[in-house]
Amino acid sequence: MTAVREPVVSVILDPSWATGHLIEDVRRGLASHPRTLPPKWLYDDRGSDLFDQITRLPEYYPTEAERALLAAHADEIVRLSGADTVVELGSGTSDKTRTLLDAFSAGGRLRRFVPVDVSEATLRAAAHELAARYPGLLVEAVVGGFTLHLGHLPAGGRKVVAFLGGTIGNLYTEERGAFLGALADSLDVGDWLLLGTDLVKDSDRLIAAYNDSQGVTAEFVTNSLHVVNRELGADFDVDSFSYVPFWDPHMERMDLRVRAEMPQHVTIPGAGVTFDLASGEEIRVEISTKFRPDGLRDELAAAGFVVHHLWRDDDFALTLARLEASGA
Ligand code: AVJ
Repeated sequence: MTAVREPVVSVILDPSWATGHLIEDVRRGLASHPRTLPPKWLYDDRGSDLFDQITRLPEYYPTEAERALLAAHADEIVRLSGADTVVELGSGTSDKTRTLLDAFSAGGRLRRFVPVDVSEATLRAAAHELAARYPGLLVEAVVGGFTLHLGHLPAGGRKVVAFLGGTIGNLYTEERGAFLGALADSLDVGDWLLLGTDLVKDSDRLIAAYNDSQGVTAEFVTNSLHVVNRELGADFDVDSFSYVPFWDPHMERMDLRVRAEMPQHVTIPGAGVTFDLASGEEIRVEISTKFRPDGLRDELAAAGFVVHHLWRDDDFALTLARLEASGA
């Protein structure tokens, strides 16, 4: 009988740090063209709850597509990687991770699970639940952002880093390059990345996934204005905004915006910012880039990751790539 081990939770993200970044992001983003609010501020408690609802919408296909790919190929991922440590970036409730952890623990080599998430409450709950479910497993949770805290991942062991849900698509091209580079720096040669990405497809299917008939996505996206109102004392008249999602065929990404339906003067005391929004002016709240296997392979290669396997259906891809010696 193996004992349940008490999870270790390290808090890297402190609230004042988070507020400092919100102020910086808001100042820079709202001064750019188009005006932009960064998507990481979408996930306060209400935003996380709304996103959870999105994953269960009939139109939002990525969650189920990825779950099916994981279920079908988890054993192969265990065998190919030979990993004893699973790291999950942006783990949330670690829901899909269970499929992966089940396969790893059946393979007999799983020693450690490292979930990384900005939401401390969610992470603590998940850490305790997983420690109880897998006796003997060491759970070393890290409360932090997935882009800035990669240097704080525990060292040692053979790792597979899971970055699922298509979340890498929320980063701009340059940000993806920087993220993959930082990830490569924090890993050892021979470690693995398991990456979930949504694929380029018919624009009608994409627009339906981001403009659901129940209006949950619209609420999720406009929630970012509520976050700025609450955190920085801003006076966005949230109800006077409409939601405008569109497919950008050149950049191959969904571009999710809110549009001011009447002119308004916006004051954000916490960031020392005031500006006028014209009627019809838009604020971008999130991008969601869609990928092609070839492009993905090239982006990964630029950071030193070599694709060993890409499993896909018509919608979604799961890529297993190994960090190779840079040769430099
Ligand atoms: C979880 C961030 C990948 O881009 O599809 C869903 C977020 N935004 N509907 C995505 C989202 C609107 C989602 N990610």
